[in-house]
Amino acid sequence: MSATTVSPCQDNTDVQVFPAMMQMITGYWVSGCIYTAAKLGVADLLENGPLGIEELSRQLSAHPDSLYRLLRALSGVGVFKELEGKRFEQTQFSNALRTSAPGSIRSVAIMMGEEHYKVWGHLLQSVKTGDRAFEAVYGMPVFEYFQKNPESSEIFNGAMTSFASNMHSAVVGAYDFSGFKKIVDVGGGHGRLLSVILEHAPTLSAVLFDLPHVVQGAAIPERLQSRFELAGGDFFQAVYAGGDAYILSTVIHDWDDEHALKILKNIHAAMPENGTLLVVENVVEGDNQPGLGKLLDINMLLMTEGGRERSSEEYKALYRAAGFELTRIIPTPSGVSILEGRKR
Ligand SMILES: C[S@@+](CC[C@H](N)C(=O)[O-])C[C@H]1O[C@@H](n2cnc3c(N)ncnc32)[C@H](O)[C@@H]1O
Repeated sequence: MSATTVSPCQDNTDVQVFPAMMQMITGYWVSGCIYTAAKLGVADLLENGPLGIEELSRQLSAHPDSLYRLLRALSGVGVFKELEGKRFEQTQFSNALRTSAPGSIRSVAIMMGEEHYKVWGHLLQSVKTGDRAFEAVYGMPVFEYFQKNPESSEIFNGAMTSFASNMHSAVVGAYDFSGFKKIVDVGGGHGRLLSVILEHAPTLSAVLFDLPHVVQGAAIPERLQSRFELAGGDFFQAVYAGGDAYILSTVIHDWDDEHALKILKNIHAAMPENGTLLVVENVVEGDNQPGLGKLLDINMLLMTEGGRERSSEEYKALYRAAGFELTRIIPTPSGVSILEGRKR
């Protein structure tokens, strides 16, 4: 959304200003409704056609009138459609909340409504003090929390897979991976990005490197398994050695410069001369342009220990300090860019 600059006596009941501001101010009302429908699993029940509110509330063990009000509100923003007789049907938006929909976004909706929502309540304090909200709320850093809470970890990994399936095909469309022999995905989650890359590069083999409990949950299609290796480990200690390309997708933004440098230096040590580094991240600039990256940066401020979205200059400096030269920044239609680097 773009806005013009104004004088102090601007009328703020302006027909454009008030609704636009209200939409932004009440944004969390909508996300709270989406979270609740996702958690209940409403979209799963509508897979085979419309259902009435009595049937929905019976199957979901929900209070009929409250559920009706929830679904009526969501139908007002296009998530579900209300039919006559308090019946509801799926829309293209609600379909994305189905657990088994291709590219399902259900885990993202659930993740944002649980730990994330609670931690966003600390934004004012974080902006005033710079403190780390996740630790203030949960008493430990985010990845330690996920290690100790398998259910939340499962939702987080599902959300990462969902982000991956919605954005990583754009990465494969923007970059040619076929010249590499072995690519290592560092912090690769359950391996979704690697699977998409291998589908497009038939002679490439791949290594999925992540924390041991995460690689255990990897979901690799059978036809790709002969070209796949799993490697559990801690990227602050060392990473798998022997790849000619290393990719990190939405990993560096989890960390402050000191930790990001440690990861990049460990990759530098593990790769041959002229190895290629590919970092997939949002690149944010102070350009007054809209973009998810700038809000994701606030999410990083709250959820991580020093994580942030970075500008192209900040990435250039980070690459240089880790022994890489930043050779290209390739934008993709999904908003993330591929930052290609070469070992110096
Ligand atoms: C934001 S997720 C990105 C997942 C994946 N690359 C993607 O794009 O979907 C960050 C990943 O870093 C992994 N990670 C965190 N700390 C790690 C560590 N010390 N060593 C290895 N992996 C780690 C997490 O388990 C998680 O899978």
